[in-house]
Amino acid sequence: MFDTKTIIQQLTLEQKCALLSGGDTFQSRALPSCGIPAIWLSDGPHGVRKQAGASDHLGINPSEPATCFPTASAVASSWDPELGEELGRALGQEAAAQDVAVLLGPGLNVKRSPLCGRNFEYFSEDPYLAGKMAAAYIRGIQANGIAACPKHFAANNQELRRMASDSIVDERTLRELYLTNFEIAVTEGHPKTIMTSYNLINGTYANENYHLLQEILRDGWGFDGAVVTDWGSSNDHALGVKNGSTLEMPAPGLDSARELCKAVQDGKISEVDINARLEELLDLIATTTEALGKAPKTIDWDAHHALARKAAAESIVLLKNKGGLLPLDPAAKVAVIGDFARTPRYQGAGSSMVNAPRVDSFLEALKASDVQTVGYAQGFDRQGKPDGKLQAQAVELAAKADVVLLFLGLDEVKESEGLDRSDMKLSQNQIDLLLAVHRTNPRLVVVLSSGSAVETGWQSHCEALLWAGLGGQAGADAVLDVLTGKVNPAGHLAETWSLHCEDNPSCHNFGRDGRNVEYREGLYVGYRYYQTAGVPVAYPFGYGLSYTEFAYSDLKATPTGVTVTVKNTGDRAGDEVVQVYIAKPDAKVFRPAQELKGFARVHLEAGESRTVTIPLDDKAFRYWNDPANRWAVEGGSYEVRVGGCSADIRLTAAVQVQGSGDANPYDGLALPHYVGGQVQDVPDGEFTALLGHAIPSPKVAIDRNMTLGEIGHARSPLGWLVHVIHKHLLTKSLESGTPDLNLLFNYNMPLRAIAKMTGGIVSMGMVDGLVMELKGFWIIGILRVIVEAVKNQMANKAMEKRLSEGGRKS
Ligand code: BGC
Repeated sequence: MFDTKTIIQQLTLEQKCALLSGGDTFQSRALPSCGIPAIWLSDGPHGVRKQAGASDHLGINPSEPATCFPTASAVASSWDPELGEELGRALGQEAAAQDVAVLLGPGLNVKRSPLCGRNFEYFSEDPYLAGKMAAAYIRGIQANGIAACPKHFAANNQELRRMASDSIVDERTLRELYLTNFEIAVTEGHPKTIMTSYNLINGTYANENYHLLQEILRDGWGFDGAVVTDWGSSNDHALGVKNGSTLEMPAPGLDSARELCKAVQDGKISEVDINARLEELLDLIATTTEALGKAPKTIDWDAHHALARKAAAESIVLLKNKGGLLPLDPAAKVAVIGDFARTPRYQGAGSSMVNAPRVDSFLEALKASDVQTVGYAQGFDRQGKPDGKLQAQAVELAAKADVVLLFLGLDEVKESEGLDRSDMKLSQNQIDLLLAVHRTNPRLVVVLSSGSAVETGWQSHCEALLWAGLGGQAGADAVLDVLTGKVNPAGHLAETWSLHCEDNPSCHNFGRDGRNVEYREGLYVGYRYYQTAGVPVAYPFGYGLSYTEFAYSDLKATPTGVTVTVKNTGDRAGDEVVQVYIAKPDAKVFRPAQELKGFARVHLEAGESRTVTIPLDDKAFRYWNDPANRWAVEGGSYEVRVGGCSADIRLTAAVQVQGSGDANPYDGLALPHYVGGQVQDVPDGEFTALLGHAIPSPKVAIDRNMTLGEIGHARSPLGWLVHVIHKHLLTKSLESGTPDLNLLFNYNMPLRAIAKMTGGIVSMGMVDGLVMELKGFWIIGILRVIVEAVKNQMANKAMEKRLSEGGRKS
């Protein structure tokens, strides 16, 4: 298309700077006079969300129709990277058919807390599993030459104040938990782009973090693609460019380009940095545009629907099956109860929201099947309002059936970008219904729809429990396939389901006031915590039942791999997820009780046995030695534990591992909570010792990064007024059951993002005027906003003209 290096020599500084930020909400900037086209960057992880008309980054306006596959949290439960790659290929085809050059996904942040509002978009609490699944998606998406954009890099694990929170995390935890997933995704998936997250990490924005973008991503993992900001996450574009960030999105307007030019002229950054970033961007534009030119523009929608159904079925997790109630007896008459059977919950809210061409409901699927039914009852109000009449109708129906299929779940409000959950509970009206139905008919199967873990204190009131995740547009058929036994369930949980929300290791340090998000629990996230601290859980990581049984034998282990024989001892074919955990009970360097380091999903016919080989790679025994700034291995004996779940280890073997000879980095430090894994309440002193630096002050400051949610702390009546009105509208919208995502976004949005997201209407100078206003300089502040607005308009016009008229230098 064009020779990147040559074209860079022919561009003016102004042209170069203009190219490094977006042209509109989802397109890069074109420079037609220089032969440089724009490319489309569209969401998102489980389907393409291309908004050809009115666009927004929160999934509010409609997008072009695209297959809605199950969300990442569901597909991770398949533990099947081959499936991930197949889904990736389908996503890549749909993106290319819509001329999308960069697909904004997969999302692979580690689920630090079950309360994170975006957990449905993420794979797992375990970085190894998340990394392997993400790498597979990336390979699939990029198979036709377009780009995947794994996100959000990094340590972005809560939605509250998501655009301006500071993740305070020690380097070892960062490397072992919050970066290992990205490391696998980058080194095994080779994405052409990666998206930086909104947050700061230890005081520096991810997007301008030299350590993260240069030392780790580029130098450490060999990433040579384009780094794209999350939408509105750019803080100081010049610093971003200098430290490794390529393309600022969405559309900050030309003010940002002028700031960049000025930074070069003032010597804050060098033109060499600009050229390096531009080369990454132009390579991306050239290669993806060429690939799009060759890609088919038609999609086999039926085939993709079938794939969505297969993926959903492979991912469903059977959590309980007392007395073998499932699969359903073909002669059984079933009552179908629950609003989710009629109107499925199949995806989450926010930027990942796909406009599916069709969405199947369980009632429709049932109609087309041979299952005999006594009818359907809604059972409960979806938004949680108690409704005795609906409940009574359901109980009456349940009495007529042999088996009750009860569809429960989290409603749409509970799982959304921009909003964390406040608990892990199902609505009380659903639980009341369950108890009432169970009293009438205990042959009860609960089918649960949610994008993340829920408390299941009520589970003794059902005989079977199926977690359907958020199964995408064909999820209902997949549920029916599993209920009837057409598909033998083989999904295994990719996150622990704790007994109570308060059991969670980060529960005292999640969603708190102030700008800091303190990762005090360190390495002990999910099963790493529960198993080390000995806290009982409802369903452990890796858990999942089948309609058949598997036996394990002949484990052989070396430091580079494991072989084990698995036999299907039941009378029907099924898949087993063989999981390999590594433990070092005599470790001197503290570590979780065990960690996942390998897995394989294997299909076995009834009675078949197979020897499975699972490699152990460089991640199997390593730990991050922070003072030495390198990966190290504690030498000695390790236990290799193999089983179908983290809490169901069937075989163990010992292996001797050569150590790296590092001295214990924690010698001389008192870290009793970390040694024992009792990390819910780590005192300041111990957390500081782990961090190796003081905990920054979480105080809110009046600056460009003050969020609209914090504006009440300002010294301006205007700020207070905006705060009160905004808070009122937000509370009302949350109470209404359909939260206004714009209001939510704004609540967490720093002032500087106004300039970064308004396509040039607002400049940083105007934001600085606003900051003055909020600091109490009411008149000067407003005057400055006005003066800067006029200056901005004039500068924009002149620069637009120069860009549209000016061709290449030679
Ligand atoms: C989200 C990203 C998304 C982007 C574009 C942001 O708000 O955090 O995940 O890709 O919007 O829609």
